[in-house]
Amino acid sequence: MLRIAIQSKGRLFEDTMALLQEAGIKLSTSKRTLLVQAANFPLEVLFLRDDDIPQTVAGGVADLGIVGENEFVERQEDAEVVRRLGFSKCRLSLAIPKEEEYTDVSWFEGKRIATSYPCILKDYMSSKGVHADIHVITGSVEIAPGIGLANAIFDIVSSGSTLISNNLKEVEVVMQSEAVLIANRQLTPEKRDVLKELLFRIEAVKSAEDKRYVLMNAPNERLKEIIAVLPGMKSPTVMPLAQEGWSSVHTVLDEKCFWEIIGKLKSLGAEGILVLPIEKMIL
Ligand code: PRP
Ligand code: ZN
Repeated sequence: MLRIAIQSKGRLFEDTMALLQEAGIKLSTSKRTLLVQAANFPLEVLFLRDDDIPQTVAGGVADLGIVGENEFVERQEDAEVVRRLGFSKCRLSLAIPKEEEYTDVSWFEGKRIATSYPCILKDYMSSKGVHADIHVITGSVEIAPGIGLANAIFDIVSSGSTLISNNLKEVEVVMQSEAVLIANRQLTPEKRDVLKELLFRIEAVKSAEDKRYVLMNAPNERLKEIIAVLPGMKSPTVMPLAQEGWSSVHTVLDEKCFWEIIGKLKSLGAEGILVLPIEKMIL
């Protein structure tokens, strides 16, 4: 049985629950208890505050954790980052009142900065050779300049709307962050095996995420050219259609290059192009 610590609320909670569900792990979330056991996988989920997750994993109370990289780096706990998960992306930035004139990071010399991430900020400031007064507050950091508690803030920025509504402007991005899967460094071989199976499932979900299954009807005389523009996993599947001179072509495409390729396919005479989401992909 593997125990995973995840955040009990917020964006990271939603995204993590969605990932576990897509990995086929059933959790009864009807009753909100601290510890929930999966119905069909040797995993139990411990719901915690994000700040407590790194220590819980490093100390072995939980075997795994899913936590924002920002939180993990700040806590300076010794655990292994097993996989970056690509969701809950945000950045840790310095922001100042929007009417202030900003030149470079030396602006912060002698200034007071409010933050919940003192370790990351301290490292950054010393790497820049700037001496600032770091003032730790745990919530609502963004109101500190407005009430005269600080000259600037260092906090999570996602959409940027919190900064705007507090008349602040982002002046330095210090760190990019996303959710990461962390593990205790002393997992038993049995637990390593369960982790391997969990990672296999996460891999399948993640590789399918930005891929689309594409089907189209193609005139046989342009088939070669059409296949040439398709960067499929291997070669595409080609099947004859009942209508003479036409084939059905199936392949998997990256969402990123999708629009560009669709244009080429159309100009080569492909018709009836269907694009379907892929739920899982085992490579
Ligand atoms: C963070 C941060 C800001 C907000 C920024 O708080 O402290 O308040 O998100 O997001 P935005 O750029 O999209 O406006 P969060 O919601 O993570 O809650 P917390 O501070 O209580 O952890
Ligand atoms: Zn938080």
